[in-house]
Amino acid sequence: MTNLLPYNTFGISALASQFVEVNSVSQLHNLIQEKKLSEIPFLILGGGSNVLFTKDYAGLVLKNNLKGIKVTKKDENHIWVKAAGGEIWHDLVIHCVNKNWGGIENLSLIPGTVGAAPMQNIGAYGVEIKDTFEELEALNIQTGELEKFTNEQCNFGYRESIFKHEAKGKYFITSVTFKLSKKPVLNTSYGDIEILLKEWDIVKPTIADISKAVIAIRQSKLPDPALLGNAGSFFKNPVIEFSVFEKLQKNNPTIKSFPASDGKVKIPAAWLIEQAGWKGKRFGNIGVHEKQALVLVNYGGGTGKELIDLAYKIIDSVKAKFGVVLTPEVNII
Ligand code: EPU
Repeated sequence: MTNLLPYNTFGISALASQFVEVNSVSQLHNLIQEKKLSEIPFLILGGGSNVLFTKDYAGLVLKNNLKGIKVTKKDENHIWVKAAGGEIWHDLVIHCVNKNWGGIENLSLIPGTVGAAPMQNIGAYGVEIKDTFEELEALNIQTGELEKFTNEQCNFGYRESIFKHEAKGKYFITSVTFKLSKKPVLNTSYGDIEILLKEWDIVKPTIADISKAVIAIRQSKLPDPALLGNAGSFFKNPVIEFSVFEKLQKNNPTIKSFPASDGKVKIPAAWLIEQAGWKGKRFGNIGVHEKQALVLVNYGGGTGKELIDLAYKIIDSVKAKFGVVLTPEVNII
């Protein structure tokens, strides 16, 4: 038995029957050959920053610990960077920012690993990994073969990919390759970044400036998992039909909105949760973060069951007040 507390950013205590750190692809091959993965259920864990354990795990937890970052190709304008699945996402971002390779600087300080990033197409401050994603390699757990997935094959959407649907639980992501830019077009469109750069008197921002701004914004709003257990946004921002949004806006003129695909509208779940009165509320060892209503927190000693019960109460109250159904972004185990 292994306690997964150090392996999930919520800091939830849950026991795994078996736990293996995967340090090489050949080690994974051996586990498949020994039929270890067909005997009992298994769960692949990256940085544990997007999971909530609501009970002990009666199976094998595989922690992706594959390391390495290398350049695989270059041309006049681009550079292809291949990172192993177990690399810490923010380390990769800083590595690229320091080299002045552009494209993922807006994704600074997102917790988690490189291998987990494509699963939910991580995104922040106007950028998603699908924008620079070239391909990934993943080991098919059933066949033991290494397979490649192109950007198109990953079927990326808002916090979505094939790995949350058809390919769920079937692949171990060993590496991800990004196509970064030597002459980047910086994305400062997200309001907070522009405001901060102005405050800092930066007229011609560099990649490093954007990264610093994103880090400062995140640190001002989002709790550091090392200090306060959390998994970032607990819910997705709901995407609703325009006609539904119009009705909602009539009764709630201050509601913010962002255009989504197919003429739909994305609305901030944080706003809905705050308006429903949950922001900053504490219930024993758990609660809703005081600076960002989308983040549920574990003050220490909280359980997954308590957190999921709170999440359901929030879902029910937002539905009753606004008629909008929130869905968790976090994987509930
Ligand atoms: N807002 C509230 N109350 C709050 C917080 C925010 O009303 O407590 C309103 C703000 O006024 C703002 C809007 O909600 O107009 C959006 O807020 P914010 O910019 O903080 O972003 P978000 O929509 O709440 C999303 C991502 C974050 C990402 C930020 C920045 C999702 C589920 N979350 O949050 O991602 O960092 O945008 O791009 O899409 C994560 O996925 O873990 C995560 C932190």
